[in-house]
Amino acid sequence: MKCLIIYYSLTNSTSQVAKSISIGLNQAGVETTLCNIKDDSPPNLDSYDLLGIGTPVYVYQIPINVLECIESLSKVKKIRSFAFLTYGTYAWNAGEFLKNTMLKSGFDIQGWFYCHGADYFLGYISRGCFASPGHPNADDLAKAQKFGYDMGSGNADRLWPESHISPPLIYRFEQMMLSRSLVQRYHQKQFKLDKEKCIRCDICVKGCPVHNLNHDNEGYPSWDSKCIMCLSCEMHCPREAIKSPMSTAMMNPIMNYNVKKIMRDPKIEKSKVRLHNGKIEIY
Ligand SMILES: Cc1cc2nc3c(=O)[nH]c(=O)nc-3n(C[C@H](O)[C@H](O)[C@H](O)COP(=O)(O)O)c2cc1C
Repeated sequence: MKCLIIYYSLTNSTSQVAKSISIGLNQAGVETTLCNIKDDSPPNLDSYDLLGIGTPVYVYQIPINVLECIESLSKVKKIRSFAFLTYGTYAWNAGEFLKNTMLKSGFDIQGWFYCHGADYFLGYISRGCFASPGHPNADDLAKAQKFGYDMGSGNADRLWPESHISPPLIYRFEQMMLSRSLVQRYHQKQFKLDKEKCIRCDICVKGCPVHNLNHDNEGYPSWDSKCIMCLSCEMHCPREAIKSPMSTAMMNPIMNYNVKKIMRDPKIEKSKVRLHNGKIEIY
């Protein structure tokens, strides 16, 4: 049996989980190919019997590039599949989004896996909060490997993570504010560059996981129309020359509320951090 695992990972958590699942699959005798869509386009599915889809949770939903990837594989063939998610704080019904997208695209879903991943979301990091540092940890990865083994031997779990938990109002508002259509129609046009501060170092252009940044005639970064709101460009700018729509005053109360909730939640591990010149310093 041959399995293809297609996943998106920007900060390596989902990658680590994908690798552990693949080790488990190998132990069950399944040959596995891994493809991170940040770096490569998925190969043709024809020669595979099993397909895994892996993704981080972004704003309690699934990143736009993952949704588009699943839709592009749509109806290729009704292939046996599984899914896995990593998330830093609260996934809420993100698993449900993923499940519905996969079902709509004709996948035959046989199992799922999810665990924490270190949370580099700018909204929290810039407020000094680093959630789930050190995840996925050894225990998460051992569970991922076991899941891979079960999936390869046909014993995985069909239930979906937290699918029954509807998020509280404030999170639903965030989901709505950062919905795919609003990002594509509105937010992605709202990135602001301070040319006085920008040193044209290219860190933002090179770090964009969906190659959405180009150079204008003067060598300054400019944003195209496939932004997934990962905020990597803004976070890593050494001169703080970039402001995304997430950093507007309107988002402040929501981000402050979220950080307060995380800091008070004993179930979420966290460290204090400082974002300085585009680099994260962990205390
Ligand atoms: C833009 C962005 C939005 C995020 N939104 C959420 C979220 O809504 N809920 C959550 O639990 N984690 C959220 N996270 C954290 C990621 O889901 C988590 O860190 C994940 O493990 C990252 O995967 P990766 O390292 O493979 O990129 C977000 C991270 C980023 C960068």
